[in-house]
Amino acid sequence: MSTTRSADYDVADPSLAPEGERLIEWAGREMPVLRLIRERFERDRPLEGMRMAGCLHVTSETANLAITLKAGGAELRLCASNPLSTQDAVAAALTRSHGIPTFAVKGEDSARYYGHIQSALEVRPQLTMDDGADLVAELHKGRQDLLDTVLAGTEETTTGVIRLRAMARDGALRFPIIAVNEALTKHLFDNRYGTGQSTIDGLIRATNVLLAGKTVVVCGYGWCGRGLASRAAGLGAHVVVTEVDPTRALEAVMDGYRVMPLQDAAPEADIVITVTGDINVVDRSHIEAFKDGAIVANSGHFNDEINLAALDDLSTHVSAPRQFVQSHRLRNGRTVHVLAEGRLLNLAAAEGHPAAVMDMSFANQALCAEYVARNHASLERRVHDVPPEIDSEVARLKLTAMGIAIDTLTAEQQSYLSSWESGTS
Ligand code: ADE
Repeated sequence: MSTTRSADYDVADPSLAPEGERLIEWAGREMPVLRLIRERFERDRPLEGMRMAGCLHVTSETANLAITLKAGGAELRLCASNPLSTQDAVAAALTRSHGIPTFAVKGEDSARYYGHIQSALEVRPQLTMDDGADLVAELHKGRQDLLDTVLAGTEETTTGVIRLRAMARDGALRFPIIAVNEALTKHLFDNRYGTGQSTIDGLIRATNVLLAGKTVVVCGYGWCGRGLASRAAGLGAHVVVTEVDPTRALEAVMDGYRVMPLQDAAPEADIVITVTGDINVVDRSHIEAFKDGAIVANSGHFNDEINLAALDDLSTHVSAPRQFVQSHRLRNGRTVHVLAEGRLLNLAAAEGHPAAVMDMSFANQALCAEYVARNHASLERRVHDVPPEIDSEVARLKLTAMGIAIDTLTAEQQSYLSSWESGTS
């Protein structure tokens, strides 16, 4: 792959900038909340002079966030949070048209991926913005010399939040982080409707399979799993859910799905998709039990939910019938198809979550960046929730942008809710 490198950026092809610009504008049409924030940031400059390193999926939606942060006065360097999720044209436009140094090439290998994180860190960040916590982990492991200048950070995704909480528990986390994922206006929409739709999009783009009548096994019934199960069912699939958490399993049962251990589901699965955030969810024994032609994919953050080493070990032959499909002939004579090398299917084979949900996720990111820039001195070194007033402001702005009005409590209702005297009448 020929790419263009310089100290200030590393993108596949800077001449793709005009195409990237069109994609950024197209996504921007569906991001009215972020647009409002950008207009205010242009006036108020709440991030004036703040050095920021962002490790995010480099998509047209992220570009709208990056432009907003810059409009607020931030000096931002951006790198990818996954080797396969970069939209090369967008990376080119950010670098060329928006003056945001970007280090991201779709298909980059692991060494280059981590090299790009180091390049983003060259900004000597005061604020970090992460999706999966690779940037924060690299800072703490290899660039401790930079830690004293970091004031605070934000984290986008469930997996990153779990990782950062583990760091905080170990006493390792050296600056406060706001868990953007925990905002209701993030995970109820982005994780559920975003992952639900874009995973199906990735599955269809990669394979063009018909979902109607297929048995689709969804591993994990968190917000992403809930969204994915409902979208697969909506397309006529017979959905089976696997879970380790009894409450979530029960919820899946009462939502109308069959629930069973993956070992039992494996022989009848046409398609298996992991969305758990854990390792080796699809393990050797499951692979051995799959029927001929089973399709396996992952939409969790990291590419370790499917035991690819075991799959390789069981394989006698691997072919690539289509982009994003690797077909493994197993020693038992069956073939198992893995999509997008087990990496985030929705971002590798499709374009990630649609802009309309990223609007809310990234509105939270922008407002939390402003919040930590202002309040870092009073925040403890741990993982914090998004302030509820930011969360409800995002919901309010989104409803307004959608032209939807809602009721307000009367004075009588307000006082009723704060009193205990009246009960059964
Ligand atoms: N995460 C999931 N979908 C995304 C998108 N479209 N842009 C950035 N991050 C994402």
